[in-house]
Parts: sequence; C-alpha cells; structure tokens
Amino acid sequence: MIPVFPDILELEDCLSLHEIKKMTQKKLYIETYGCQMNVADSEVVSSILKEENYAITNDAKEADLILINTCSIRDNAEVRVKGRLDNLKILKKDNKNLKIGILGCMAERIKDKILEDEPAVDLVVGPDAYRDLPKLLNTISDGSKGVNTLLSLEETYADINPVRLDENNVSAFVSIMRGCNNLCSYCVVPYTRGRERSRDPETIIREVRNLIKNGYKEVTLLGQNVNSFYWEADNTDFPALLERVALQDSSLRVRYSTSHPKDLSDKLIEVMTKHDNICKSIHLPVQSGSNQVLNKMKRRYTRESYLERISAIKNAMPEASISSDIIAGFCDETEKDHQDTLSLMKEVGYDFSYMFKYSERPGTFAAKKFPDDVPEEIKSRRLSEIIELQNKLSLESKQKDIGKVFEVLIEGSSKKSDSELFGRTSQNKVVVFPKTNYKTGDYAMLKITECSSATLRGIPVN
Ligand code: SAH
Ligand code: SF4
Ligand code: F3S
Repeated sequence: MIPVFPDILELEDCLSLHEIKKMTQKKLYIETYGCQMNVADSEVVSSILKEENYAITNDAKEADLILINTCSIRDNAEVRVKGRLDNLKILKKDNKNLKIGILGCMAERIKDKILEDEPAVDLVVGPDAYRDLPKLLNTISDGSKGVNTLLSLEETYADINPVRLDENNVSAFVSIMRGCNNLCSYCVVPYTRGRERSRDPETIIREVRNLIKNGYKEVTLLGQNVNSFYWEADNTDFPALLERVALQDSSLRVRYSTSHPKDLSDKLIEVMTKHDNICKSIHLPVQSGSNQVLNKMKRRYTRESYLERISAIKNAMPEASISSDIIAGFCDETEKDHQDTLSLMKEVGYDFSYMFKYSERPGTFAAKKFPDDVPEEIKSRRLSEIIELQNKLSLESKQKDIGKVFEVLIEGSSKKSDSELFGRTSQNKVVVFPKTNYKTGDYAMLKITECSSATLRGIPVN
C-alpha cells in the first residue's frame, strides 16, 4: 500500500531535525590526564563524538559515556587514573546504560591488563585510533568490548577541527605533530604514541585562522619535539611554520612546546627574535646536568652543548624566560651527578621547572638495561633539594621583574578574588592585578609591584 501523507502538516506536528537531534542527544563526560597533547586529543575526541550527536557535560553523573584520557609517563600517573576509575565506575550502579572508556597512553600500554582487571571498562582506545570511536561505540551497545590500540604511521587528525573544551576562549592548543622518535632511555612516550609524524602545515594554518576568527588571542603549537617538525612536500621546517603562524595576525600570541635541546637551531632563535608576537619563553628540558647521566638517558647532547644553546638564547633574547624538566635519581646517578644538576640549574637560572623522581617504565631501554638502583629515600632527598633550589631561582627571577612593565594577556578572574584578574606575560609568568576596566582576552600593560615564587602582582599603567 502506498503511504498517504497529508498535503499540509501543522507546523507544531513537525519536529525539526534540530529538535530530533536534541531529543536523541547523548552526554559525554571526558576527563584528561597527562600532557598538553592529551588535552588537545580530548578536543579531537570531543569533535568526533559531537558528529555522533554527543553533547559535552561537566557532570559525570549525568553522562551516558565517560571517557578517561590517560597518561603513563610515571607510575604515579597511572595510579591516579586507576583511583579515578574506581570512583567513576560506581556510577554504573545508578545508570545501567552508562559506558566507560579508557583512552590515551595507558590504553596503549596496558590494554590487556585493563580489560582483564576492570570489567566496568567498555572501551579501550589508543591515541591513534580515535577515528574508530563511532564504530567502537556501536560495538559496545550490546555489552561487547570495543578495543582499538593500533598505532599509525600517518594519523595526525589533520582535518578535524577540535571542540575547545577550555572555556576561557583566549588560549588554545594546536597539535602540529604526533609521536616521538627520540627513544630517551627512560621514556614510555615512543611506545605509547608511536613514530613521529608531522601534520600538513596548510591544516595547521587553517586551524589557527579559525581560532583567530573566533576571538582567540594565543595559540600553543604542540609536539614532543617540535624542532623536528618537517613537511616534505613544501619543505616547511619548524622555524618556517612558527613564522607562518606568527604572521597570521600580529596580535595573536604564539607559543610552542616542547623543544629538544639537541635540535634547537639558530634559525629558530632568529625567528623568535624577529617577531614580537612569538612569546619569549622557551621550555628546554635538560633532565640532568651530568654528562654521564645524559649519556645513559640517550639525550644526545652534553652539559656543555646544552649550556651553549642557553647562551645563544640569552644573547639573542636577554628578556626570554627559560624553563626545564628535571629527573632526580635516574639509574646509577651519583652524588656528584646530582650536584652537577644543581650547579647547571644555577648556571642557567631557570625561571621555572617541572621536577620528578625517576620512575621505571616497563619496556623502556632503561628498564631493560639499567637497574633502578638509587634508593627511594635518596631519590626523595635529591628531588627535595632540586625543588628547593628551583623555588629560590623562581623567586629571584620574579624579583628581577619588580618595577618593570609587561604586556599581559588576560585569561580570567583570579582564583582568590573576584575583584582581581590574572594573565600571563610573554615570558609565561602569571600576573594578578586589580580588575578596573579590563576583561578576559584584553591585553593590559602592567607594572610589577610585588611577587612570590609563583606569581607576580601588578598595577595597570597607561
Ligand atoms: N618530549 C619532552 C617531554 C615529554 S615527557 C622532552 O623530551 O622534553 C615530560 C617529562 O616527563 C620529561 O621531560 C621528563 O622530565 C619526565 N619523564 C619522562 N619519563 C619519565 C620517567 N620514566 N620518570 C620520571 N620522569 C619522566
Ligand atoms: Fe620522551 Fe625523549 Fe621523546 Fe621527550 S624526546 S617524549 S623524553 S623519548
Ligand atoms: Fe603522558 Fe602520554 Fe603525554 S604518557 S605525558 S599523556 S604523551
């Protein structure tokens, strides 16, 4: 029989596509651990799932799908995620349809263990398999497990326009490459993220233009070793890409992370010097100040060559801030090696550092070849000395700013007081100041009046 439709539908009987979409919409709650690259990946995942009619929620209790984007860099990173999973899986008791997924580096590293130990987990998806999520979600709808941890030689999610999860609308991460080929002996990243690959510069520029159009004032270009960015088709290296991004809009601030000391070129320093909107802040992780340890870490630079790069930066940009990552208690580290790290920290005068105790990661070269032989209490003591020294250096670095005037990009209200705003200088230092007539996303000229080791305080000047 031929179905008969009335010629004219009453408007109110006719649900619009938009309304139907809304009625069937599911809620996604996504929690992110680890590095900035994971933050950028969660935005890619959100974008893929938005196309599948998921809306983002900040409340895990109302979610239909909970995703935890995980990190494996140190053992305690994994322990934290496991603790969080224990809390979140309780929600399944009240919501029988709730699905839980583990994404990211832990999914890649210990897929089998997760599936074995955690029956509450429905999905396990590695960092290169997020495009497969819609298919995997179909798989799990009948209670089966959805698993894909294949690493790729090409995937960069180049064409996906990420949904920005940070609500400040001022600053955004733009992933320019994935993976890492460096194989530092302590590090799990090459195993969890796969081979290094660069993203097509045209798609990077498109994403940056889109951000500018949407009012963003700052982008941070992300990769494990941005210096080795290279796009063969048009011979674009990292300095060329950075310059192209900076030229898109002179009022857009451009940052990048992370630079590997072995490949920080003069060309990069030159480009940074040439453009005011490229922030004068370099994160150049040293890991250790001892050549013996650097060699064992397979970092492929020496204390001397590292310090030469620091001199080159300081000569070209005396105003630049320099930050680092430091590992305490790597295999075989002697007291003398530790002292070399402290003396290097002083020599550079780091403005800021991330500091860690060495954590052995199964499968890495160090785990296979070198015993994790620095006793826990010595690791802890060395780490405390490193932290204490860094606090002193951070305070000295901020004290030098007192009396100077900096342009600050305002990121939001201060956490402590609604009558104050906070922003960052080009050197990536946080400044808190009275609200007056400014708002988030404005640039303000501030004179620094006070400081602690973590924050500057300033007042607006005209
Ligand atoms: N690609 C960046 C760093 C990525 S990981 C670089 O090479 O600089 C971030 C930091 O975690 C590293 O710089 C290192 O300091 C620390 N890290 C990595 N593996 C670690 C381990 N097994 N134990 C302790 N810290 C580690
Ligand atoms: Fe890890 Fe080294 Fe690659 Fe950084 S450069 S991600 S420390 S292997
Ligand atoms: Fe962690 Fe993976 Fe980033 S191990 S630091 S989330 S690349």
